[in-house]
Amino acid sequence: MQLELFPCVEPPLGGGFVASVRLHRERVEDWGSYPFSIPVVRHLEELPLHRAVTFLVGENGSGKSTLLEALAVRLGFPAEGGSRNYHFATKDTHSRLSEVLAVVRDGMQAAGRESDGFFLRAESFYPLMTQVEAYEREAPHPYGEWGGKSPHERSHGEAFLALLTLRLRGRGLYLFDEPEAALSAQRQLAVLTHLHALVKNGSQMVIATHSPILLAYPHALIYECHEDGLQQVRYEETEACRLTREFMLRPERMMERLFAEEDP
Ligand SMILES: Nc1ncnc2c1ncn2[C@@H]1O[C@H](COP(=O)(O)OP(=O)(O)O)[C@@H](O)[C@H]1O
Ligand SMILES: [Mg+2]
Repeated sequence: MQLELFPCVEPPLGGGFVASVRLHRERVEDWGSYPFSIPVVRHLEELPLHRAVTFLVGENGSGKSTLLEALAVRLGFPAEGGSRNYHFATKDTHSRLSEVLAVVRDGMQAAGRESDGFFLRAESFYPLMTQVEAYEREAPHPYGEWGGKSPHERSHGEAFLALLTLRLRGRGLYLFDEPEAALSAQRQLAVLTHLHALVKNGSQMVIATHSPILLAYPHALIYECHEDGLQQVRYEETEACRLTREFMLRPERMMERLFAEEDP
């Protein structure tokens, strides 16, 4: 009989570099104007992050990008996106919130520091890829981390997949704002596979999304933006999941209802 002297304990998935994000409420001077006036910021105290993936969901205009961008700036990423060594002009509006955010790294002893990082901003994928081109043209091995060609020679969706599969190395801290924007359902499934590979490689991510496909990722916390702040919800409770399911089950019934509301 063979004795198992060292029972195999699976290391936890994910990077766990940032335990939580805290708002220094006492340092906020003006609660009456953006970004402090929006409900998710007004009610923010401390937001624990999952060591693998934390999702931010919520209606358009509910504050997902505001939070994500401020967190990105706080973590040292350019406000326009990219990795920490990209140099874009930074925008004042977000830095006001980032200045009063604290990143709590108390799990750090165990987790160590991330060795890779990337912030993908929803609105600036195209200019960001132009920036990548400018950097890569000067690099000793141009596009070495981009599969040998400029991301501009790929479609938006393909360029994002190239970023995920080629450029991101793992053991990283990644912030993505609506990464599904350019992706077919099939490619969103592919993204799930690559996200999982990065998580298994010790990465941590914060992702703002509307995608019911991405949100199904199991090693994750989901926070929904509401009038009374961020609330942790289960996948099935998210509006993205409920509405999509309802629509897919009975599209004609949903449209009847929608058009009846519109018709006088
Ligand atoms: N630079 C800005 N100045 C003033 N208000 C802004 C600015 N950016 C966004 N807002 C407002 O803040 C709210 C949250 O926006 P945003 O964070 O982009 O939402 P989401 O990403 O959830 O769609 C919206 O009502 C938006 O109009
Ligand atoms: Mg947004």
